[in-house]
Amino acid sequence: MDQTESASGDQNMLHILVTGANSGLGFSICCRLADEFLSNHPATESLTILFTTRSARKAQETTRRLESYLKSNAPSASAAARVHFVPESVDLGDLRSVRALSRKLIHTLPRLDAIVLNAGIGGWSGINWPQAIWDVCTDLLHAVTWPAYKLAPTGVLTGKQTSTESEPPLGAVFCANVFGHYMLAHNVAPLLKRARTNGPGRVVWVSSLEATCKFFDVDDIQGLRTSAPYESSKALTDVLALTSNLPSTAPWAVDSFLQSETELDTHAIHVDAPAATPRTYLSHPGICATSIIPLITPLAWAMIASFWIARMLGSPWHGLSTYIGACAPVFLALASQADLEAAEEPYRKAGGGRAKWGSSCGRNGVESVVSTEVDGWGHGGVVGTPVVEADRLRRRKRGAEDLTKEKREEFEELGRQCWKRMEELRIQWDEILDQAEARSK
Ligand SMILES: NC(=O)c1ccc[n+]([C@@H]2O[C@H](COP(=O)([O-])OP(=O)(O)OC[C@H]3O[C@@H](n4cnc5c(N)ncnc54)[C@H](OP(=O)(O)O)[C@@H]3O)[C@@H](O)[C@H]2O)c1
Repeated sequence: MDQTESASGDQNMLHILVTGANSGLGFSICCRLADEFLSNHPATESLTILFTTRSARKAQETTRRLESYLKSNAPSASAAARVHFVPESVDLGDLRSVRALSRKLIHTLPRLDAIVLNAGIGGWSGINWPQAIWDVCTDLLHAVTWPAYKLAPTGVLTGKQTSTESEPPLGAVFCANVFGHYMLAHNVAPLLKRARTNGPGRVVWVSSLEATCKFFDVDDIQGLRTSAPYESSKALTDVLALTSNLPSTAPWAVDSFLQSETELDTHAIHVDAPAATPRTYLSHPGICATSIIPLITPLAWAMIASFWIARMLGSPWHGLSTYIGACAPVFLALASQADLEAAEEPYRKAGGGRAKWGSSCGRNGVESVVSTEVDGWGHGGVVGTPVVEADRLRRRKRGAEDLTKEKREEFEELGRQCWKRMEELRIQWDEILDQAEARSK
């Protein structure tokens, strides 16, 4: 019997799922979850971190590295025994694999307290070097925060999902970054509804500073016609998460997306009744040096040096290390509900809602979780001048403008359309997958 099963009846065990944990940010999210849990949660609680990779070899290697990290960093052996790592497998570009993981979780876990939707691909094919060198030399801070020199092919699709002849196209970047996670979150909603140790279950999306509605067209929701599919996928992530709790999106975001058929199929371990509607939160890691943009070693060092210079020049977003980048997603996954609500309170009081929480870092390397300005949503959806002083003082993206009532209404309408289309797409794909499964029986 594994650790998850043996503790399935334990009300004091938190279960958190992290996707894409074998490298970069995902690995550090797991480490930081363990550290912050051991520092801030009572000794009566324990934590199971379920992490996904794409192969048995990566699962084995990641388990070994995580266990070795825990052994070296936990205050004592008895503290380390309160954290368990459980490898899982999923390829988010393969919807059958997403289903397989969802079913396994539904049948083996009593509940899920949070899912951190971290895995992702850039989908880039290269860099426009002359432009990159010019931009970095003439406008370094902007060029290494909102780069305009990455190249991506248009219209790249996933492999075929089923043997259905008339299968609709599925964008590769869209599926890995958004749709695979979207299907997973929908499928495990019954587990999130049973969270109780730390408040309602949480869906924590990992977005990017590069997400902006400029790169997004709701009529091309999969980003198949854009030359910026990554930025489009992250803009969609922002729109979905930031509008997830608005009354205008509720028919899709709550009444449909969070109502999963698999609820009917729950296992005997689900002794608890569904407690509360899961909440959706939005994070980004700032900018860290990872292999999401593959570079040869000298260029990787040049990138790290330029990030460090940007931090010295006053960028609030160049944490560099993935451990610093993990600060915001870990806060959203692990903080008490009271702390989360206190962080959102200034925005809510001023008529706003969800904020985009980013991992920020000062020149001295001290990290913090701060709100990030979003085109069309400002800080926390508040119209006018930012209400939190630190938000007013933080360096802005060039050309950023205070949120107007009209822009906020447009964003809300965009959210409504995105939720509606995502639910239509999910239902369409669930039917395709059901039919494919029925045929293979
Ligand atoms: N690095 C940054 O500065 C930065 C900035 C903003 C946002 N982010 C976001 O942070 C997240 C993590 O990025 P990273 O920088 O840590 O990149 P990374 O080191 O390349 O890690 C990406 C992770 O996602 C996994 N993954 C990729 N495609 C997948 C798929 N189809 N199914 C399942 N897993 C898949 C990878 O697994 P494999 O090893 O098997 O490919 C890997 O574990 C991404 O969502 C990214 O957009 C990063």
